This record gives sequence, structure tokens and C-alpha cells, in this order.
Amino acid sequence: MSVPFLDLAAQQQEVADEVRLGLDSVFARAAFVGGAEVTRFEEEYAGYAGVAHCVGVANGTDAIELALRALGVGPGDEAILPANTFIATAEAVSAVGATPVLVDVDEEHLLIDPAAVERAITDRTRVIVPVHLFGQSAPVERLAPLAQAAGAWLVEDAAQAQGARRHGRPAGSAGRVATTSFYPGKNLGAAGDAGAVLTDDADLAGRVRVLAAHGSPRKYVHDVVGRNSRLDTVQAVVLSAKLARLEKWNELRRQAAERYAVLLDDVAGCRLPRSAAGNEDVWHLYVVRVAQRDRVLAALGAAGIGAGIHYPTPVHLTGAYAHLGLGPGSYPVAERAAARILSLPMFPHLTGEQQEQVAVALTAALDPGRDPALDPGRDPGRPGAAER
Ligand SMILES: Cc1ncc(COP(=O)(O)O)c(C=O)c1O
Repeated sequence: MSVPFLDLAAQQQEVADEVRLGLDSVFARAAFVGGAEVTRFEEEYAGYAGVAHCVGVANGTDAIELALRALGVGPGDEAILPANTFIATAEAVSAVGATPVLVDVDEEHLLIDPAAVERAITDRTRVIVPVHLFGQSAPVERLAPLAQAAGAWLVEDAAQAQGARRHGRPAGSAGRVATTSFYPGKNLGAAGDAGAVLTDDADLAGRVRVLAAHGSPRKYVHDVVGRNSRLDTVQAVVLSAKLARLEKWNELRRQAAERYAVLLDDVAGCRLPRSAAGNEDVWHLYVVRVAQRDRVLAALGAAGIGAGIHYPTPVHLTGAYAHLGLGPGSYPVAERAAARILSLPMFPHLTGEQQEQVAVALTAALDPGRDPALDPGRDPGRPGAAER
């Protein structure tokens, strides 16, 4: 039996009746844009995320771009973000004409490194964008004072951390504004694209709303050049139904992460992820680190185990950001991680049996007896002395 990397069907089944009822109502009224469903979800999600305002938009990339535009970030401004993120974080910075300033990540959690942020701050720094990657909260309490001292804003990319908490506070509630994505595979996923901007600042939320609606505070009044970035009514129906189950699903992910930790504990050559002190992670991804990752990935694939890489190329080494002129060696931690990270199957309905299958296949793939190139005396998932 194969094990998929992600299985959304079980989630879908849990919400199917509720979604069908909601969609029947939307279709009966042909009320496809805006309306009570969108408002309801925005209010529910703001409450869940611990902020006063949630503005639904078309996707998570738009959410970052609109948040930056609403803050007035533009050409000449610098935005500091981690080299190890999905490219959308950088794209949004580029889209507003600002300059992405990449920094390295910490070795243990692969999250933005506050010390590197401090070194990267200049008098053009307008925003710092921590990314709460893999379902872990970045150390916002260390970044907020840096932002404040620099006269910059903290804009949190919480696309992968719906429900995560740090020192009891929801991810995305520490900065001036946060964004999220409801791409289907996210912990809270729509049935298509969707995203949101989250903030306590009513004016800022209002500016995002206007920018996302053709620069229009009222019908046919256009005060600024905006765009069209709406949260679909259909998606709002799906998201409300799933939000009601998100805490339970995140708990199931935590249980699955604990099972992996036990199953893989003494598998040689596999570095397991660990939650940072103070963090309540939501395991959007379960990312281990192994040597010869591509070979291991292929072996897992041959054994019917779905696995992924998040992400194979740090932002500065992509073709899109070649113009930054940052070659290999610029961000050693992110680069070393990119060669070793391997995301194992992780979703709320993943069973213990499926995880045992993953563990057996991964153990076989890593078995040094099968691959003389691996040095059995060393744990290749951990950095050697020379690499520290
Ligand atoms: C960290 C991060 N930021 C931004 C995005 C962009 O979201 P979207 O795909 O909804 O535009 C994603 C997800 O794809 C993401 O994982």
C-alpha cells in the first residue's frame, strides 16, 4: 500500500455535508462575490488568529503584497526575509518595487535568524518579514525590538502556521500585520486559492480592503490604483467549515509528529525536527534531514511513499533572483539544508500504520549496508565538525 504525501480527501469528507449546504445556499442566491459568507469567515478567522481584523483576499501572495502596499512599502525600501522560504514571500516584496534583502536561517529550526537580521538592517529597512515555516513560529519576540529600533514594521508570513502559537500567542499576532494562505494543502486549505491579511490596525485593514477592491472604498469611487483580489464566497464557505475543525486537525498533526519522533528516533542518518522552546507547532510539514537526499527521496518513491522538498532551491539561487548577485555560499545554513531536507507524509488523517510504513521505507533507504558511500560511523543528517 502506498502512502501519499498529502491526503485531503478525508478532510473533505468530514466537511462535505456542511459545505454542500453552504454552497447550495450560495448557488441558490447566485451570490458569488462577497456577502455574508465572506464576512462571517473573516470574523471567525480574526478571532481564531487573535487579531481584530481579517481581510480575505485571493491568495497568500497577494496578501503579502497588499499588506506591503498598504504600509506604503515601495521602491527604495528594503524588506528583510529568510533565504529559506517559498518564493512567494520574495515575489511580493518585488511586486511592490521594494528590494528583498535575504538573510540566513538558524541551523536547528531553519527559521529566520535574528542575529542575521540585525546585521542586515540598514537605514532603508522598512519591513522585516519572518516566515513561520513548516508550522513553527519564528522568534518574533526577538525580531520585534529589532524592527522597532530600525523604525521598520514586522510583517509576518504565517501561510504555513495556522493555529501555531509561541509563548501562548497565535503566529501572526505579534507584528503590525500578518498574512496567510489558504492554498488547499495548507493546514487550513480552501478548495482553490485564497488568502488573508491579519492586523489589529483598523486603518491598515481598511487600506488593504480598498487596494484589494480596485482602490474603491465605495462603488465606482476609485481613490487609488488598486487591483482585484477577492476571497471567493465559495471558498469562504469551505474555509468556515474547515476552520471549525482546525484545532482538532492540528492536534492530529501533533500526534502524528510525536509518532514519527518515536518511530524514527534511532534511525541512523536521519535528523528529526524539534519544536523550539515556547513553541506549539502545527506541523504543516514534517521535515527531516538526511544525506544523499535525492537518492533517499527516489528510494521512498520506489517504495510508494510520497515525500517532498520544501524547498530545493533557496531564494537567492533561483533564476528569478539571480539578479541579486548572491551566489552559492551566501547563506550556508539555508543552502546546506536545501540539499538535505525531506518532507515526509504529514496530514491530520495520517495513520500510525502509514507512518510505520514510512519508517520502514526510510530506514531501508538510509541503511548504510545498502549504500557503501555512506559512512556508518557518522550521522550524516547532522552537521560534522567541519561544517559547523
Ligand atoms: C511561506 C509561504 N508564503 C506565501 C505563500 C503564498 O501563498 P499562495 O500560494 O496562496 O499565493 C505560501 C504558499 O504557497 C507559503 O508557503
